[in-house]
Amino acid sequence: MDGKTKVCGIMANPVEHSYSPMMQNFFGERTGVNFAYVPLKVEPGMVEEAVKGAYAMNLAGMNVTVPYKQQVIPYLKEVDEGAAAIGAVNTLVRIPGGYRGYNTDAPGLYRAMEEAGIPVEGEDCILLGAGGAAKAAAWTLGSHGARAVYILNRSGERAEALAAEMNSRFGGERFRALALADYRQIPDGSYLCVQSTSVGMAPDTEGILIDDEAFYRKIHTGFDLVYTPFTTAFMRAVERAGGRAVNGLSMLIYQGVIAYELWNPGVKVDRETVDAVRRRMRASLRGRRDNLIFIGFMGAGKTTVGQAFAGRTGRRFLDTDERIEERAGKSIPRIFEEDGEEAFRQMETETVRAMGNELWGAVISVGGGLPMREENRRLLKEAGTVIYLRTRPETVCERLKGDDSRPMLKSPDPEKRARELLAARERFYLEAAHVCVDTDGKTVEEIVEEILQKEETE
Ligand code: S3P
Repeated sequence: MDGKTKVCGIMANPVEHSYSPMMQNFFGERTGVNFAYVPLKVEPGMVEEAVKGAYAMNLAGMNVTVPYKQQVIPYLKEVDEGAAAIGAVNTLVRIPGGYRGYNTDAPGLYRAMEEAGIPVEGEDCILLGAGGAAKAAAWTLGSHGARAVYILNRSGERAEALAAEMNSRFGGERFRALALADYRQIPDGSYLCVQSTSVGMAPDTEGILIDDEAFYRKIHTGFDLVYTPFTTAFMRAVERAGGRAVNGLSMLIYQGVIAYELWNPGVKVDRETVDAVRRRMRASLRGRRDNLIFIGFMGAGKTTVGQAFAGRTGRRFLDTDERIEERAGKSIPRIFEEDGEEAFRQMETETVRAMGNELWGAVISVGGGLPMREENRRLLKEAGTVIYLRTRPETVCERLKGDDSRPMLKSPDPEKRARELLAARERFYLEAAHVCVDTDGKTVEEIVEEILQKEETE
């Protein structure tokens, strides 16, 4: 940052859990704009001061979220048509004399649908919910030419009000309201269904609005605006009935992309950046970072598979042993000789701790003994998705034959030593890993393929 940095921020309360600062600063970095984005916690009753203060201090724009998306409207210089129709603003763009308010949730939903290949035009749709998020979704469906939209809501009156409002905006009688209990009245057909309530959101992850398989058989695609948990009960029901299900993470990302592009006219966030930010957010939702970590016994193929995986996914590869050697300025056999195994194990813990704090998007191979410490197992699990490459003792012995670079195998009978060590370590590898892959008899490509699949669903 310097004197010319363009500053934006997010006004919210609470703001601590927001993904926007990470996401927006990442966009800034990737698009090469001198840009910074900060969390701005605004106390209730201070919204007017916040907007005026932001303008006075030359903020280029802001995001606005819970609980201020409606409250902010009276303090804006202008409001975009979509935002006015939805009655909520989530993005402010600086103009002479104040800010212009936009709603990027609705176009964010549309961009997420486009990316997932979900058409809206001419579609028959079901909208679950009639609250703030439902309004944005209704606007998206209406403005992109949905043929019919059945709005189902626990309060039939709210559904009626939303349907009436949308029909007056778009003309015709495309929006029809139904009380939730009357869902069976929806004619047979094949529907795109948007789930816009908070039902099923963590911590109440079993919550589902309609629990009837017959309903889900009518749905070809279910789009849940919720993304915590990553797969909601609604999504599972859609999939069980043979439909396709998508969660709300991409919508969250695209509302941010559109806001970023409004603040930086002419700048585009590319697909690669969107994919990278999605991986980060997904990892963070799973309580870990977006690294892929290979563990396993000496000779299990951690480096070979790790490098192949890094090449395949365009990520950088690194190795804890190499880092340790760099930092110590000597080889691992010399560390063992001169400082002892305990000192080496301590270096391992320090290395994995540093990795967890600084790395994103890397593929990491870790020394065979590193997961033996309980603290290391915990640090590994936070640092990324941990893959255990499991190998039979015979394979390991075959691969390590004649190898004298491993101090742990210095013994009159290295093969016996390897077998004993592997037997003692197996349970720690399993405990440390999110995913276990058996590698015997498989090619590197087959193993990489298997990891790609397992990592996705894990
Ligand atoms: C060790 C494994 C080695 C290296 C060190 C100790 C072990 O790494 O960290 O020699 O205790 O299993 P690789 O598993 O990469 O060979």
